[in-house]
Amino acid sequence: MNNKRFIQYLYAKKTTDDRSLNLRVWLVFVNRLKKLKKQKQARILELGAGIGTMCERLLEAADPSGMSYTMLDDNPALLKEAEVRLKRWYRKNTSGIMPDLSFHALEAGAWLSGRPPDILFDVILAHAFLDLVDIRVILGNALSLMDPGGLVYLTINYDGLTDFYPSLPADEEIIGCYHESMRAVKGAYRGTDKSCAEIFRYLADNRIPILDAGASDWAVVPRLLPDGSSGHTEEERLFLSAILSMVEDSVSGQGFDSGTLMSWIEERRAQINNGTLVYIAHQMDILARKP
Ligand SMILES: C[S@@+](CC[C@H](N)C(=O)[O-])C[C@H]1O[C@@H](n2cnc3c(N)ncnc32)[C@H](O)[C@@H]1O
Repeated sequence: MNNKRFIQYLYAKKTTDDRSLNLRVWLVFVNRLKKLKKQKQARILELGAGIGTMCERLLEAADPSGMSYTMLDDNPALLKEAEVRLKRWYRKNTSGIMPDLSFHALEAGAWLSGRPPDILFDVILAHAFLDLVDIRVILGNALSLMDPGGLVYLTINYDGLTDFYPSLPADEEIIGCYHESMRAVKGAYRGTDKSCAEIFRYLADNRIPILDAGASDWAVVPRLLPDGSSGHTEEERLFLSAILSMVEDSVSGQGFDSGTLMSWIEERRAQINNGTLVYIAHQMDILARKP
């Protein structure tokens, strides 16, 4: 997917993420962040920050003053978009001083391991990111840059279940192949289709206490909308279309029969157009504290 389409996807994904984030875990996190900001400046690091949607959520939920926010992503075009978007948000929504935002277009593992260990963070965030990397390496490096008591808020962690409805005969094979593609080596890492299992194992092995955890499934369901229409919202149609493109690209990369894949994709796209497609992806949010 080129940068323009990926940026559109991340914009569209935000509304589904907003509906999906686990509210209880979010509130525990935001309350702790507010308490922290009363004591000192909160130094926040986000891994795989994309176009800055999580930063925007935090600026909205917690007073932006008293925060420094470092965004890391290996795609410079996304960070450029994040900078423009956050500055625009800030001008529109507040007259206060812009918080200290910094943007680093580098691979997360390289950036974390090359960082001086005396510059520490109070909060580490990773949103829809950890399934793409070696979780042990990335979390290990990130936690080494935190003082004890630091908060680790890991959200939209995919955990092995995708469903599309109405069911089609090729679903099982296509979703199986999609999961296989997530486990393939890409760049420096082998990703995973079971990121929660790996995160929980990492936290247990390193005796890192969990403060709370809960489901944050994407459930994109045609429904009666507030404007009286029914089906999906405009953003959801864009989001679903991008998800189908990602499934198509990853499954065809696994050598899956192209005719079967093409007719499955065509049928699923028709279900977006006629407002009948249901898409579920099981994910979890986890909040932990460095001991
Ligand atoms: C699924 S997107 C999520 C973006 C953002 N967190 C959001 O949810 O809107 C994953 C992001 O991680 C970035 N990324 C992937 N692998 C990376 C790596 N090894 N180091 C840094 N960034 C990476 C991608 O460029 C992309 O922006």
